[in-house]
Amino acid sequence: MAVRKLAPEDMQPESFVLSTETEAFAEKEIAKYPPGRQASAVIALLGKAQEQAGGWLPRKAIEAVAAKLDMPVIRVMEVATFYTMFNLEPVGKYFIQFCGTTPCVLRGAGEIKKVLERRIGDQNHVTADGNFSWLEVECLGACSNAPMVQINDDYYEDLTTENFEKLLDDLAAGRPVKVGSQIGRNRSEPFEAVNTLQDPALYDGSVVGAWRKRFEEQAKAAETAEPAAAMASIPQDVKAAKPTAGRPIESDAADTPAKRAKEGETPINPTDQKEAADPSTATKGRSHTEAEPRPAPQSGKSYVASPKKEGEAVPSSPTTPVAGTPPAQAESRRDGSESKPDVIVDKDNKSS
Ligand code: FES
Repeated sequence: MAVRKLAPEDMQPESFVLSTETEAFAEKEIAKYPPGRQASAVIALLGKAQEQAGGWLPRKAIEAVAAKLDMPVIRVMEVATFYTMFNLEPVGKYFIQFCGTTPCVLRGAGEIKKVLERRIGDQNHVTADGNFSWLEVECLGACSNAPMVQINDDYYEDLTTENFEKLLDDLAAGRPVKVGSQIGRNRSEPFEAVNTLQDPALYDGSVVGAWRKRFEEQAKAAETAEPAAAMASIPQDVKAAKPTAGRPIESDAADTPAKRAKEGETPINPTDQKEAADPSTATKGRSHTEAEPRPAPQSGKSYVASPKKEGEAVPSSPTTPVAGTPPAQAESRRDGSESKPDVIVDKDNKSS
């Protein structure tokens, strides 16, 4: 990137005063922002000041903008020297920005550059009549119409050495020129022949209408076909439903007294049943080492005490096998109480 600095002192004008037009423009721009935020208009004002100064920003113009916006001069200077759209040195009446990026070069920008060097001279050099100066820039976003140049605010595309020389002649002579493609193509249409999207029906709405009509016909056909299809799907020889049809499948609840009796297992000890129903014994734990048979669980749920405090051990299952015990000699239970610990936790979180 080129070093951007102000033009030498001998090029700088003695003074610069905002014109009436620029002042009016400034007031309009400043009014777009809240009070105290007038600095937001700095780029717009620098652009207008550049236009007033003939296409570039002298030091005095930058200072005038700073005064208008009540900004430190260095702040405005930073903006002016950062953005390449602000020219810091005088330019010609026709300031040509020549695109020298790859797509344009592949399409012949090198020859255009030779024309510029021959007719105008080096970059940033203004011709003696003050008409032309040029600068090589990066892609200007019109690659599909390469090669191209920007002259002041307009693009000139599809350049050849012949049409570019003619363009410069016309500008120098003050004749009207054609902006855009110089070979007559419409914007960025295909270069030689338009072979696609040529059907006029694409643009008069009739294609969309045809699709809509087809959808409507299909919807209507589906509407009439649906009842007939539903009738056809009903079987003609209807069989009687099975007794269980439509009912939930039921099975014995696990470990209920009825199931235990049906399977020939020992009925539940009535004493245990009575004790279990007695609320006064609800919080008492009983060791499984006692002689009487283990009480049957009252439901399929199992209650496993979990640690109440961090770091407290989880009570072990009474059936946790002792290391080295063969499976055949291990205590065997199949009443769902395997996971029931020897600890009963009451609702006050006290264990016994
Ligand atoms: S490369 Fe020239 S306009 Fe993009």
